[in-house]
Amino acid sequence: MAFMVYQEDDGDLSHLNEKLVGVIGYGNLGRPVALNLRDSGVRVIIGTHSDDGRRDATADGFSAFDLDEAVKKAQVNFILMPNEVMVQAYIDQIAPYLRRGSMLVFSSAYNVTFGYIEPPPFVDVGLLAPRIMAAGVREKFLSGEGYLSYLSIAQDARGEAWPVLLALAKGIGALKAGGIEITFEREAELDLFAQQTVLPLLYQTLTTAVGVLLDKGYPTDIAFAELYLSGELSYFFERMAESGLQALLQRQPQTTQYGALSRLERFFDNRLERLMELTLEEIRSGAFAREWTKENVDGLRRLKLLWKNQNALDIWDFEKQALDSLGREVED
Ligand SMILES: NC(=O)c1ccc[n+]([C@@H]2O[C@H](COP(=O)([O-])OP(=O)(O)OC[C@H]3O[C@@H](n4cnc5c(N)ncnc54)[C@H](OP(=O)(O)O)[C@@H]3O)[C@@H](O)[C@H]2O)c1
Repeated sequence: MAFMVYQEDDGDLSHLNEKLVGVIGYGNLGRPVALNLRDSGVRVIIGTHSDDGRRDATADGFSAFDLDEAVKKAQVNFILMPNEVMVQAYIDQIAPYLRRGSMLVFSSAYNVTFGYIEPPPFVDVGLLAPRIMAAGVREKFLSGEGYLSYLSIAQDARGEAWPVLLALAKGIGALKAGGIEITFEREAELDLFAQQTVLPLLYQTLTTAVGVLLDKGYPTDIAFAELYLSGELSYFFERMAESGLQALLQRQPQTTQYGALSRLERFFDNRLERLMELTLEEIRSGAFAREWTKENVDGLRRLKLLWKNQNALDIWDFEKQALDSLGREVED
């Protein structure tokens, strides 16, 4: 089934004229969202749980309030905090202050999909999920390019949820490159699936390739630069996002085309498809969500151990050497 793709003209900012938008959480995504909305002429306040958030929001010229105060004041509350802290904040400081006719908008469908947050029936519930890293939300708004986003309405209490969501999407610059309608379930599943398949495979591919080159005596900085630090790979990915993988491969020199396509067969492993299906099944059944909840209850014990094991690998010392020798400064 094909879903609707909303364009710039589908959003009408006047649907926010009478409304105050609460940006709840002034972090990676909250800040660009708030700045974009203000630049679009939308009235915005910030809900924050921290002194840092309050200081940053105030420095940017916003009025900042405790979470409950912001939720009480705003008619549209855009919840922009990490999934794992959102549930407690929702129970304590958001849910008790929701009013009939107000709207909750999430940027991740995770908690609603897996049943950790169940908004009351008298509020509208939407999803506005940019498919870009948070910094890009501001950069591509300022450049006028826009970026793809997912849009969804899970609850439409009074039949007005879509126009308000589309106005919000337009306000943050999310309709310029298309806003794709999706269900909450699909967004949550797809997001986790990409994180749990493509990301670890890319990670494994790159680290294995670096290891082979270093083993065979290639200089550290050149090995890392060739594989990803030069930016050639990220440029390839950017072009792939524009024109698709097939067209991009067809535009490569023939040596590249032949080398890539002929060796592709060598790396073919039919277990991969099965492992991906298993991963998707864990996500769709809620098993991963339950595992992640348990992990949080356990104080992130396994995540800390996984990081400890990762950090003990020599490859990161070599990566640091390569970054130093290329004159890159890396923030901690
Ligand atoms: N980052 C991205 O590229 C991106 C892209 C698309 C969607 N998303 C989604 O957007 C949401 C926010 O992501 P993010 O990267 O912006 O998160 P983040 O920067 O890690 O955190 C956002 C804000 O949440 C608030 N917060 C943190 N701990 C809290 C707690 N215990 N109680 C209440 N508030 C707390 C803080 O704001 P205050 O200090 O102001 O309270 C923090 O700055 C997530 O659901 C994520 O999945 C992120």
